[in-house]
Amino acid sequence: MSVNTWVEINLNAIVHNFHEIKNYVGRDVCVLPVVKSDAYGHGACEIARILAKEGVSFFAVNNVEEGIAIRNLGHFGEILVMGGLLTDDLDSILEYNLIPTVHSIDWARHLSDKASKRRQIIKIHIKIDTGMGRLGINCDEAKDVLKEIVKMPYLKIDGVYTHFSTADEVDRSFLFEQIKRFEKILKNVPMGKNIFTHVCNSAAMLDFPACHYNMVRPGLALYGYVPSERIKNQLNLIPAMSYKSRVLVIKDVLPEKDISYGQTFRTKRRTKIGIIPVGYGLGYFRCLSNKGYALIHSRKAPVIGRVCMDQIVLDLTDIPAAAVGDEVVLMGTQGACEISAHTMAKWTGTISYEILCSLGRNIPRLYLWREERQGHVDIYERIDERRERKYIREHLPIDNSVNLPKSE
Ligand SMILES: Cc1ncc(COP(=O)(O)O)c(C=O)c1O
Repeated sequence: MSVNTWVEINLNAIVHNFHEIKNYVGRDVCVLPVVKSDAYGHGACEIARILAKEGVSFFAVNNVEEGIAIRNLGHFGEILVMGGLLTDDLDSILEYNLIPTVHSIDWARHLSDKASKRRQIIKIHIKIDTGMGRLGINCDEAKDVLKEIVKMPYLKIDGVYTHFSTADEVDRSFLFEQIKRFEKILKNVPMGKNIFTHVCNSAAMLDFPACHYNMVRPGLALYGYVPSERIKNQLNLIPAMSYKSRVLVIKDVLPEKDISYGQTFRTKRRTKIGIIPVGYGLGYFRCLSNKGYALIHSRKAPVIGRVCMDQIVLDLTDIPAAAVGDEVVLMGTQGACEISAHTMAKWTGTISYEILCSLGRNIPRLYLWREERQGHVDIYERIDERRERKYIREHLPIDNSVNLPKSE
């Protein structure tokens, strides 16, 4: 199958980022990879599969459906469901041995009833709302609620956690306040030894090593980004996702000609245009019309005219070598040039998280994996499971010009 526009996931980058994080937090801190929202568009099953090979035995998802998908891979380890549940989910929690988040006394009771009927112990993680204003037991009720949960014989408290609302912001005062509230609860209610205590998303993990406790929950960092440009990338994180297409048609256009819908761009000179088979139907936001650029031959080619559903037009006048079939990088690196998810987010007025999640979902994904052995490097490429499966295997002498990080 040939795909003209695709999202490329560099699995070596994921493995590399995982080890960067692991080395940074140290042996005593468990890294709990957050693979919710289809691993931020990277493909939860692919990411879980590759990280399991690196020894990861605990994953965090948002809902039961995501948890079941990972369990069905044959994963024997733990799966924390961080999001809220409905009572319809209770049977699946037990059947698939998922760890639910308890965020209210009602939920603790539902789980406890179900578990006692089945005579099956359920591991739980308790979430405290220390100021996020979302899911979690309110701080002021936490002491009483926790004391009640501790007495429920069929619930085994495996972890307790909270989530920060301002970890990536300059002003740290509210983050410190959340830690203070969390600490107070930990001090007041003995929940037993050997439980996981976790508060850090990527931003807090990178900025506040003092609050790693014995577990961290990175999402974005695993996929190669720091959550905001304010946070220092002291780790060598490598973005794993690229967004690519090819030049479909090249045309010469005279000066004073309109390009694409709505006459929003008129050529000022004789212009070489490239038509690229991507548009808002394939993740390229319409608000990028006449804004931003793509990379061809390691040079910037501006987007001209309106982005259509399945086509965009690039100005290739200053890239004379550009030809039909050439690779176009819409997000990612080419030579020394880079368009990061942060850049795309700035252009579109959102955050890198949304860019990654929205790109990965409805575009064919191509997984790359490079493995070195016996003086050769094997490169595997595979189109994801929503499409026809295809394995391409190349066997090349080791060549450092191949632009992929080494497997660990
Ligand atoms: C409860 C919880 N923990 C951890 C994360 C991971 O956050 P990040 O991707 O910023 O590391 C998220 C993501 O939204 C989350 O909701």
